[in-house]
Amino acid sequence: MNRYFDNKVVWITGASSGMGEAMAKYLIQNTQAKVVLSARNEEKLNDIASCCNNKDRVFVLPFDLSKNFDANLLTEKVIQKFNRIDILINNGGVSQRLKALDTSEEIERELFEINYFSYVKLSKAVLPYMIHQQQGHIVVMSSIAGKFGFYLRSTYSAAKHALHGYFESLRLEYEQQGIFVTIVCPGKVKTNVSLNAVSSGGQKHNQMDESHQQAMSAEVAAQKILKSIVSKKKEVYVGGKELLMVYFKRYCPCLFEWLIRKQSPY
Ligand SMILES: NC(=O)c1ccc[n+]([C@@H]2O[C@H](COP(=O)([O-])OP(=O)(O)OC[C@H]3O[C@@H](n4cnc5c(N)ncnc54)[C@H](OP(=O)(O)O)[C@@H]3O)[C@@H](O)[C@H]2O)c1
Repeated sequence: MNRYFDNKVVWITGASSGMGEAMAKYLIQNTQAKVVLSARNEEKLNDIASCCNNKDRVFVLPFDLSKNFDANLLTEKVIQKFNRIDILINNGGVSQRLKALDTSEEIERELFEINYFSYVKLSKAVLPYMIHQQQGHIVVMSSIAGKFGFYLRSTYSAAKHALHGYFESLRLEYEQQGIFVTIVCPGKVKTNVSLNAVSSGGQKHNQMDESHQQAMSAEVAAQKILKSIVSKKKEVYVGGKELLMVYFKRYCPCLFEWLIRKQSPY
């Protein structure tokens, strides 16, 4: 799969941690891809960029997905640097560990801004360039929480569900122009996602969920996601046995309704 990425320009959001970091490092160390690294933590992005022995192959472009960022300006910067964008990996995200009544409208809007609107905004900014190139690939990090609701995840799950509706439509509208869309649904992957999840008063949850401690590593998940990009999968599930719940919901809904109530929120 490594040669597939050679000379392709791959822009990864949420590249400072977890699966985004692991994908970035894999591409930098094992391929000749040109990699654009985005997240808020510029120092961490520079550290990751320093893994590359050819500085011209990596571009650090920090920004905040929750703020009113200028997606067109950021896209122009990538075009100025590398002349094209082949793959946009919309990966940055924040989870939730709060019941619905404890989640303020401000938190709800911020979760949608980061997990939904930023993906739409960046994708709409890169799409005209991809159409002009007659080729491009938009990757969207959803979740199994984008396939069914779960305890303490009401707004997060809603934002991830919304991604499916939007990007399945976008796929239909632009596939004739060479645009591929891959929607990735991780189950449990061992990253900082539960530590960084928004909790009471908008504070970070700051604890790793028990179910994440023994979960698939970010590195293994990253390779599975990159493989699914190479094979241009429309939708891919990444994780362990928790992924069975997606199939139970579809094929054995009564079993799903019983099992989902036995799960710990953490
Ligand atoms: N791990 C799992 O089990 C799991 C399961 C399902 C779905 N997912 C999804 O997978 C994606 C990656 O998450 P992860 O598990 O790798 O978690 P992570 O380790 O917490 O990484 C999240 C990334 O998102 C970035 N980010 C968060 N808020 C941001 C903001 N306001 N502006 C810019 N960047 C921001 C963070 O960078 P900065 O803090 O530097 O900005 C970080 O690089 C997310 O979309 C998540 O919802 C994860």
